[in-house]
Amino acid sequence: MTLNAVLAAARERVDSFLTHSLERSDRPAEQLNQAMQYALLLGGKRVRPFLTYQVGQLCHADQNVLDHAAAAVECIHAYSLIHDDLPAMDDDSLRRGQPTCHIAFDEATAILAGDALQSLAFEILSAPGLTVSPTAQLSMLNALAIASGDRGMCAGQALDLDATAKQLIEAELARVHRHKTGALIRCAVTLGVLAGDAEAQQWRADFESFADYLGLAFQVQDDILDVTGSTTALGKSQGSDRAANKATYVSVLGLAGAQECLHNLHQKALHALRRIPYNTQTLESFAEALLNRDH
Ligand code: IPE
Ligand code: IPE
Ligand code: MG
Ligand code: MG
Ligand code: MG
Repeated sequence: MTLNAVLAAARERVDSFLTHSLERSDRPAEQLNQAMQYALLLGGKRVRPFLTYQVGQLCHADQNVLDHAAAAVECIHAYSLIHDDLPAMDDDSLRRGQPTCHIAFDEATAILAGDALQSLAFEILSAPGLTVSPTAQLSMLNALAIASGDRGMCAGQALDLDATAKQLIEAELARVHRHKTGALIRCAVTLGVLAGDAEAQQWRADFESFADYLGLAFQVQDDILDVTGSTTALGKSQGSDRAANKATYVSVLGLAGAQECLHNLHQKALHALRRIPYNTQTLESFAEALLNRDH
């Protein structure tokens, strides 16, 4: 299978699972459900679900368990984007080529949709009857909770807001990015390993090292695309970081410096992957495509 075919298969699988997850028989707040669907189902590259599926397959995990894990991490991601776009945070009006959730609905509904997507993530991952040991399932829940909260994504978002209009050095900015974006990307990979068999657990640190470099590189490319991309291709407003005086890899290192850094991180990610004695060719191709993306 080509990379594009594997990507499409993962996207279809997680999209179908997420669609079903929001088809509630009981919807006491119809507009809240609509806002969740809007933010979760209308587009998105599904980078994190892909990583969970791909790593999980290499680690011989059960597909249905991976569906739950991939969907859970994507729910956290979708929630983080809704809140990231709010006026109190990045104040953006375009996401995935559409008005952001608080514009399409209203601020209060967008805040609640983010909150409810976070709960949905844990509802999905804690589902009873999965073909995985209760200990492994608890470890997965714990990993997702840690990656989402005040030592993970939320910490990064707080550091990001704090860094606005400040002159950061590269190490400080890396810390922001490792938390706000890296933590969930690492978690997507960790969930794949934790869902896997006993043998796979010995490669967890190498998979996570790959994910750490990939996650940081992914956000460096996001910073670069804010400068070099187009609003049409990005589906979000180009130049938003500069307009908001954000600390980014481009503002700290310049465009050429950011590109060089991206290249170095990519090499380190590949190096970590080579320590794993599984067929990681698809992950390698994925890293290449991801770090050369235009949106
Ligand atoms: C955007 O994430 C925010 C970052 C963490 C860089 P993605 O680029 O994965 O956004 P979607 O899900 O594809 O829209
Ligand atoms: C977002 O980073 C990180 C999270 C949502 C956790 P950005 O603010 O750079 O993402 P975009 O550029 O708005 O997608
Ligand atoms: Mg932001
Ligand atoms: Mg933003
Ligand atoms: Mg950005």
